Amino acid sequence: MTTWNLNGTKHHVLICNGSSCMRKGGEEATQAIRNEITELNLDSRIHTTRTRCNGRCKDAPVAIVYPDGTWYKNVTAEVGSSIVRQHLAGGTILSDQVIYHYSDEGFLQPEGTESIEGIQKPEKEKV
Ligand code: FES
Repeated sequence: MTTWNLNGTKHHVLICNGSSCMRKGGEEATQAIRNEITELNLDSRIHTTRTRCNGRCKDAPVAIVYPDGTWYKNVTAEVGSSIVRQHLAGGTILSDQVIYHYSDEGFLQPEGTESIEGIQKPEKEKV
């Protein structure tokens, strides 16, 4: 068990290790992301967590960058390395891989996305 001091951490990357993502290369993506972080000496700035299913299995493998609120799809090992180099280190989002951006309206799919919309969740009753 590990207890990291996360003071000063700039980004948290959630890497899906659910079964759909693992069948499509989630482990290779996980290792590529973590290796690139180490290679660029960014371990103190970027924290990663393996997760279970994030509910976007058609986009597998999935990785999510916070606090940006950027959801990435089809995260191969190469894409995982690019997320670290271009987005996390360089500040440039990989727009072709984006499922959702976070905005004032919540998560939104980019215009012209090829990702499926997915199943609509039921409306909550207002309290
Ligand atoms: S298993 Fe990764 S989104 Fe479902």
